Amino acid sequence: FLLILFLIFSIFVFSEIKIGVLLPLTGGISAFGDWTKKGIELAYSQKSTVLGEKITLVYADTRSEKTEAANAMARLIDKEKVVAVIGEIASSNSIAAAEIAEARKVPQVAVTSTNPLVTQGKKFVSRVCFIDPLQGTALAEFAGKTLKAKKVAIFVDIEQDYSVGLTNYFKERFEKKYKGQILEVRYKSGDQEFSAQLAQALAFNSDVIMFTGYYNEIALAAQQARAMGYKGYFIAGDGADAPELIKIGGQAVEGLYFTTHYVPEAAKTKIAKDFVDAFKKKFNTLPAMNAALGYDAYMLIVNAIERAKSKDPVKINEAIRSTKGFQGVSGNIDIDENGNAVKDVIIVQVKGGKFTYVTTIGPEDLK
Ligand code: PHE
Repeated sequence: FLLILFLIFSIFVFSEIKIGVLLPLTGGISAFGDWTKKGIELAYSQKSTVLGEKITLVYADTRSEKTEAANAMARLIDKEKVVAVIGEIASSNSIAAAEIAEARKVPQVAVTSTNPLVTQGKKFVSRVCFIDPLQGTALAEFAGKTLKAKKVAIFVDIEQDYSVGLTNYFKERFEKKYKGQILEVRYKSGDQEFSAQLAQALAFNSDVIMFTGYYNEIALAAQQARAMGYKGYFIAGDGADAPELIKIGGQAVEGLYFTTHYVPEAAKTKIAKDFVDAFKKKFNTLPAMNAALGYDAYMLIVNAIERAKSKDPVKINEAIRSTKGFQGVSGNIDIDENGNAVKDVIIVQVKGGKFTYVTTIGPEDLK
């Protein structure tokens, strides 16, 4: 009898629900990983139980690369037995991990991976952000309509699905609707020297240089562009959105416009304002975009577990996929039939060394 009592007791005390967190905690885009982790930590400190059980977060580092993203996903599911996974950040890494999640039938919720392929044809992969056809169109509208651009030189990171995709979606709209000219110049994640590409952009006489890669290379290329005498505009996609862009780029990124998912200044709802306050209190700094989306990804999964009333990954996935009107700190989230969130695109400018809200473009403005 004592043994049975002990067993019941131990089930009660030791039972836990494990959620995996797959992030680039080291390597080229570790700043994105750090910020996302901070957002998830805050969310966890506010809600760490579900269905009467304790939630345990299991972190896995992808080292900012695809192979390790897939390995880490397999480890989280096979060894740690997580019931759902948050992550990754970069589309290429999320795509690599998604193969594994899909095969094992465990739900994955990508944070800011915007390439369509992340969720395409998959039943177990969703995300809390908009996708690149929308983001590319928004950038093309901004370049064509607001900046009156005629010639755009695009810096493409050929290692990143995100960069290649965003370039194409931009091109489609900008060439068709604005009859603009485009020059593509290529580089690879980790490159530090861009003078050859910049010489081409200068010879092309571009009035806008657009970056479709990530903050490190954007900051360095912008510095080198100004040093070579480039006077035109800089624009970029959400890959620019980490405070590290300004830390590395300094004065050279002043004035740069980029599209993104969230900026604390535009927080209007009570839950968005409370998030900014709680984040400042815990970390002594404003939340970066990835912190807000990480927070939302965690809360959305926990909410789905509650609605599923089950620890079964398949049931949790059904609940994630049928999310409607979920109140996130980055806005309301509806998950559509493909696992994508339907959300607005925000445009931000670097002004006085800070990210400053410029405008919001909704899906209905981009038809
Ligand atoms: N959207 C980018 C991608 O899909 C990743 C990204 C992460 C961008 C964080 C900005 C901030 O690869």
